Amino acid sequence: MKKVILALFVAGSTALFAAPASFNSCVSCHGAQGERAGLGKGRALNEIPAAEMVQIMKEYKAGDRNEYGMGALMRGQMANISEAQMEEIAEFSGK
Ligand code: HEC
Repeated sequence: MKKVILALFVAGSTALFAAPASFNSCVSCHGAQGERAGLGKGRALNEIPAAEMVQIMKEYKAGDRNEYGMGALMRGQMANISEAQMEEIAEFSGK
């Protein structure tokens, strides 16, 4: 029971105050708050509306997007990101 409460607390506080764990792998290219464009390509994540960002991430994962010539790289980045994680990433780093 204690573990459940702790897990809920951690999940809740993560959503409010800090990046979700799923965002860790994005930080090196997009910045800790999503303030950078990946490798200088495209927009900073915090300039993209959250709903649009979820859609973009789905397209990368499906291999259907290649806006700036590096879609394959982003496809790899999305390989292990679930739709639920896309939502939390967009909520955290999107506009
Ligand atoms: C190795 C560097 C790198 C990492 C790590 C990375 N990205 Fe990217 N990201 C890029 C590049 C390069 C592009 C441009 C891709 C293209 O040509 O379409 C991009 C594009 C994007 C875009 C679209 C930007 C636009 O203007 O349309 C989103 C959204 C995005 N990344 C989210 C993420 C998320 C979320 C993660 C972590 C799960 C992540 N990226 C990890 C390099 C990276």
